[in-house]
Amino acid sequence: MKIMIIGSEGMLGHDLVDVLSVDNEVCTTTIDTLDITDINKTIKTVKENNPDVLIHAAAFTDVDSSESNPDLAFKVNATGTRNVAVACQKADCAMVYICTDYVFDGTNSSPYREYDQTHPLGVYGKTKHTGELYIRDLLNKFYIIRTSWLYGYHGPNFVTTMLNLAKKTKNINVVNDQIGSPTYTVDLANAIALLIKKPTYGIYHVTNSENCSWYDFAAEIFKQSKVDVNLKPVTTEEFPRPAPRPKYSVLENYNWNMEGYPRMRSYKEALTDYLKLL
Ligand SMILES: NC(=O)c1ccc[n+]([C@@H]2O[C@H](COP(=O)([O-])OP(=O)(O)OC[C@H]3O[C@@H](n4cnc5c(N)ncnc54)[C@H](OP(=O)(O)O)[C@@H]3O)[C@@H](O)[C@H]2O)c1
Repeated sequence: MKIMIIGSEGMLGHDLVDVLSVDNEVCTTTIDTLDITDINKTIKTVKENNPDVLIHAAAFTDVDSSESNPDLAFKVNATGTRNVAVACQKADCAMVYICTDYVFDGTNSSPYREYDQTHPLGVYGKTKHTGELYIRDLLNKFYIIRTSWLYGYHGPNFVTTMLNLAKKTKNINVVNDQIGSPTYTVDLANAIALLIKKPTYGIYHVTNSENCSWYDFAAEIFKQSKVDVNLKPVTTEEFPRPAPRPKYSVLENYNWNMEGYPRMRSYKEALTDYLKLL
């Protein structure tokens, strides 16, 4: 199968290239070779590469900066995704779009399923959600994959932030009232590799299993790394950020499980593998 990966230099993009290159012909673009806000270039590049499947892993991912730069976030995440969808339509290839738990408002008290009502709170979530809508309007061969709390070897993430912080101070405060599922980019890349083998198009929630607060996740990181710190749970109100975040954004891998794919492993097991790389 020929697979094109847009955003191959991102945290997830890197792992997608590594995982998918094993069994497939892979071609890649980065922001330097293809800016997805340029529709003509996007159409031309996809047409020239002529992939069977295109994975769109590029995005403006700074959740807080999206609040002060809403037009840029919209241009990349919504319009850029529309451009990629049009290019896939013209090249007649299937499209994979990586979306986010931030399409939900976090008022649920049980894990969100794919058919649950979306209601993004912040600019980032709204722009990513608009990207979903473009795909659903324009294409009939797509996989929309909503995932959450990504960390991986090839990008700054919460795990490295915590470990770097512990080198500077022993007193660390972390929010304890936002709940989600940390997800390892290698596990997500492997899941995408499985998913695109069959034309089971649609929306999928794909995260590592189990859930926790950021505070619990930090505690697990320090426990597994054997780093001794004074970790203190704080509320979102005590640790304000520019962008509003859902309090509870646990995704249930409902469609994934319904299709009979193997259960995603626990975030704690995945973390153990990731920490071995550091
Ligand atoms: N990180 C998370 O916790 C998380 C959670 C849920 C979903 N997601 C989604 O998962 C996907 C991958 O996330 P990630 O964390 O791997 O992101 P990332 O590391 O920020 O990578 C995104 C890539 O997109 C590139 N890019 C930005 N604007 C572009 C443009 N106009 N044209 C082409 N490329 C552009 C970036 O280039 P520059 O670095 O040069 O700007 C970067 O290489 C994204 O769709 C994101 O929304 C992420």
